Amino acid sequence: MQIQVKSPNISLRPSSATVNQQGHLVIGGCDCTELAAKFGTPLWVMDEQTIRDAVNCYKAGLSSYPDSMILYGGKAFLTLAICHLLDSLGVGLDVVSEGELYTAEVAGFPPDRLYLHGNNKSERELSSAIAVGARIVVDNIAELRSVGRLAHKQERRARIHFRVIPGIQPVTHDHIITGHYDSKFGIPLEQLDEVLDLAASLAPRVEVIGLHAHIGSQALEIAPYLENISVLAKAAASMQARLGNRVQEIDVGGGLGIKYSENDHPLAIYDWAKAVAEHAAASFHEAGIGTPRLLVEPGRSIVGTAGITLYRAGHLKELPSGMRYLAVDGGMADNPRPITYQAKYTACIANRMNSSDTEKRLSLAGRYCESGDIIVKEANLAASAGDLVAIFGTGAYNYSMASNYNRSPRPACVLVANGAADIIVERESNEDLIRKDRVPERLLRRPNE
Ligand SMILES: Cc1ncc(COP(=O)(O)O)c(C=O)c1O
Repeated sequence: MQIQVKSPNISLRPSSATVNQQGHLVIGGCDCTELAAKFGTPLWVMDEQTIRDAVNCYKAGLSSYPDSMILYGGKAFLTLAICHLLDSLGVGLDVVSEGELYTAEVAGFPPDRLYLHGNNKSERELSSAIAVGARIVVDNIAELRSVGRLAHKQERRARIHFRVIPGIQPVTHDHIITGHYDSKFGIPLEQLDEVLDLAASLAPRVEVIGLHAHIGSQALEIAPYLENISVLAKAAASMQARLGNRVQEIDVGGGLGIKYSENDHPLAIYDWAKAVAEHAAASFHEAGIGTPRLLVEPGRSIVGTAGITLYRAGHLKELPSGMRYLAVDGGMADNPRPITYQAKYTACIANRMNSSDTEKRLSLAGRYCESGDIIVKEANLAASAGDLVAIFGTGAYNYSMASNYNRSPRPACVLVANGAADIIVERESNEDLIRKDRVPERLLRRPNE
């Protein structure tokens, strides 16, 4: 089936972004130069409006399907404040670790909207999920055995999905494809019957409620997503026949890409969700499985465009070769994506948005001790020392993948809305860096003591 989806002009800036009379970038009604002065740099700034808009676009696109839910992929960006915001929007949450589960629990996230993913969940993670009543997305047969044993021990019922390998490979970076035949995630379709038979023997402590597949991340075309739905529909039909129970939920994964540079042309969220909803309705009908609840699992497309990072520019270095580097006060420790995936970003000068100075070709260099720590290669910017550099599209997989490389404290994160900026993650201090360090007694002694 050929599905047409239109992609209107999709912005790489947060939806609330404007420029004020001083020529400063304004996000969520907050002047970025004031944010930098108040909270310091580097600074992650998250625009609440963009997150709300993204959720609303998913909801509108899915609305033709009778029963659906957005499961936000928490790995993209998870903090207590984000849990509260998404809970208030009625969104569910996909967590992949004890830490993410703990964050959700502390935020009071409703357990019946929590789904525990992961290809190597620990017994503690599985036990916690069963205890709080979160759904478990089972990755392999050994894990199913553990779930059965732990549910029996707790005298509770574990509600599970099976994650399957659909054998689909979207066009994206090799490190973020997950649904290809050799994937480390999920159960090969050929082994599904064996897993279902084991699950049946574990009833009623284990209740199979759904099926899931996620094909990858930052994919810009609709076709692989629709193919994934067709595969899941067929697998769900055979699962229903084998178990004799209705499949209650089908989770078609996330992965919709966002615009990082002018060369990216992702689908609009609404168009993606509408195409998914329509194709799911048709495929499920054709497979004779009725209308199970349709789950989608976007992470990046909910928070990615909402985030910008503010850096202060240091020196501008011009080499005899003609190479020009503008160094900033952050880099791969707060944004490891360029060095990990050769990810592309777009920069602007937040304190001189309307500048008519001649733009020059330069690379924005991070401050960390790797030559590959370049945030933007060959940007055209009229930037110089002291300027405030803003990088767009840093809301997903930046904070959540950040490190303390070179013993650098992680930046603060503020959530902006209607002119207010609230810290949602405090800046780490040097004391935080050594808080977990311990020195063995013998190293404290002087040689002659
Ligand atoms: C199982 C699963 N669901 C959802 C997501 C979210 O993907 P994205 O942030 O690309 O939408 C991921 C990301 O890796 C994932 O592994």
